[in-house]
Amino acid sequence: MSEPERLQKILARAGIASRRVVEEMIEDGRVVVNGEVAELGQRADPDVDAIEVDGVLVGVRPDTVWYLLNKPAGVVSTASDPQGRPTVVQLVPEEPRVFPVGRLDAETEGLLLLTNDGEVTHRLTHPSYGVEKEYLAHVEGTPARGALRRLREGVELEDGITAPATAAMVSPGVVRLVIHEGRNRQVRRMCEAIGHPVVRLVRTRIGPLVDTALGPGEWRPLRQDEVRALERAAVPTPPPT
Ligand code: URA
Repeated sequence: MSEPERLQKILARAGIASRRVVEEMIEDGRVVVNGEVAELGQRADPDVDAIEVDGVLVGVRPDTVWYLLNKPAGVVSTASDPQGRPTVVQLVPEEPRVFPVGRLDAETEGLLLLTNDGEVTHRLTHPSYGVEKEYLAHVEGTPARGALRRLREGVELEDGITAPATAAMVSPGVVRLVIHEGRNRQVRRMCEAIGHPVVRLVRTRIGPLVDTALGPGEWRPLRQDEVRALERAAVPTPPPT
């Protein structure tokens, strides 16, 4: 059990909003602790108390935070960049320190997770856990059916053939690709290999997580049910027989 702390401190740390905004939320009756509407100044123990905001249970374990970011193009997915480009870490709260879960290329847009939960990060990024990632790839030209079949069945890249994937045209020149490997620049290299280089790449889903309401550069904390769904998705896939 941890020390009881003021609610605004707990909720600000969980990424809900700044302390000042959380205070307003408490005053507006939007925060509930163990089924009772909270009062300003109230303390809670994040390890044992059930804390809800707007009816949604929040993950407030003091040690773990999860953010879902819509990464804009031109921002790098590392904690710091020798070339001085903006980083994804600069787009989310400074404390506690978080790290991106895997990487998107600087020019790739879309969903990226950040957390300080190293154990689940490891599982999510390890290829044998096979978490699905969905991309919309805007490509040069319009791939024919045979080219899409190659994406699905496996494309020979310099680091080996790609695992079976899902590939479908969603509109002329736009392919929806679902992969569960995480090789460097994989989607770009797959599309290049079939003769349709990527001109714009957007990640639209990570395992169970989607969010079409987050604008470029916007982030939000994961809900408790999303963290649980993510943990369930990050289970090892059996080796091929
Ligand atoms: N595949 C790519 O080519 N780039 C990314 O950023 C992610 C997947």
